Amino acid sequence: MHRAIVAQQGSQGAAAAISALLEERTGQQIAASRAWRIDAVLKPLLRTLGIESVDALASRAILDPRGTVADSVVDALLNQETSFFRDPALLDLVADAIVARRTAVPGRRLRIWSAGCATGQEPLSLAMLLDERGLDESAVEIVATDVSAGAIARARSARFSQFEIQRGLAVRRMMRWFDGEGVEWTAQRALVRRIQFRRHNLVCDPPPAGSFDMILCRNVLLYFGPEVRSSVFGTLAVAARPDGLLVLGAGETVIGQTADFVPAPDWRGLYRRKAAA
Ligand SMILES: C[S@@+](CC[C@H](N)C(=O)[O-])C[C@H]1O[C@@H](n2cnc3c(N)ncnc32)[C@H](O)[C@@H]1O
Repeated sequence: MHRAIVAQQGSQGAAAAISALLEERTGQQIAASRAWRIDAVLKPLLRTLGIESVDALASRAILDPRGTVADSVVDALLNQETSFFRDPALLDLVADAIVARRTAVPGRRLRIWSAGCATGQEPLSLAMLLDERGLDESAVEIVATDVSAGAIARARSARFSQFEIQRGLAVRRMMRWFDGEGVEWTAQRALVRRIQFRRHNLVCDPPPAGSFDMILCRNVLLYFGPEVRSSVFGTLAVAARPDGLLVLGAGETVIGQTADFVPAPDWRGLYRRKAAA
């Protein structure tokens, strides 16, 4: 079907087929008003792969939708925008909620899932905040996942450019947790080893094993259509403990989207797994 679209409609068909591939693989939709981005985003990939045009790239990806060319196309089109301490007030609240829970159940190791963690700045920020509150990996386990193999590889490497480091990271935290200078900075192993980075597709994979006290799924759901979003909320509900909390991005809400989570009365801005009837 995708092949026919490319053949019949030239480069417009290539854009449509590539959008369809992205949606099939990740649930992410490219709005028609942003379809112009496809060409711009894929141009650097043409050079890397030695392919002459976006049409040729689309044909290669569609002929082998699980192959390495298709993987590279999907990775390039995913929006992996993130930064250290993105929405810092909300992350402080998350850390406060974890500390409160640890105080309530001191013997249990708490579990956090950062779903759609991109290149790792979100879970690394959380690990720093928890350390500052006296919670190490024996108190809290952090699992961080993303559908993008490239993003997870970068997150594991924990290497960041000067630009990425300057976005949101206070100098005192940079000095405490990062080595390097100038163009590249690397997070210390003592920080990175607090996080288990794994590849995971929210749309079709079962959630990571065990249940979570806190799930962050920020700035991921907004790119899904209503049906996929509703099914992903179902996956998050399965992964959450019965009293688990959910954190969404600033422009996202559960209201009108799912019956599985409700606003948390004690933690304004967070959502709580709804108790079974
Ligand atoms: C805009 S980034 C948000 C990163 C981080 N949560 C934040 O708020 O800074 C969205 C991330 O969701 C990931 N993503 C998109 N579709 C996904 C899927 N089906 N399963 C898991 N991750 C997905 C993308 O690869 C990308 O890294």
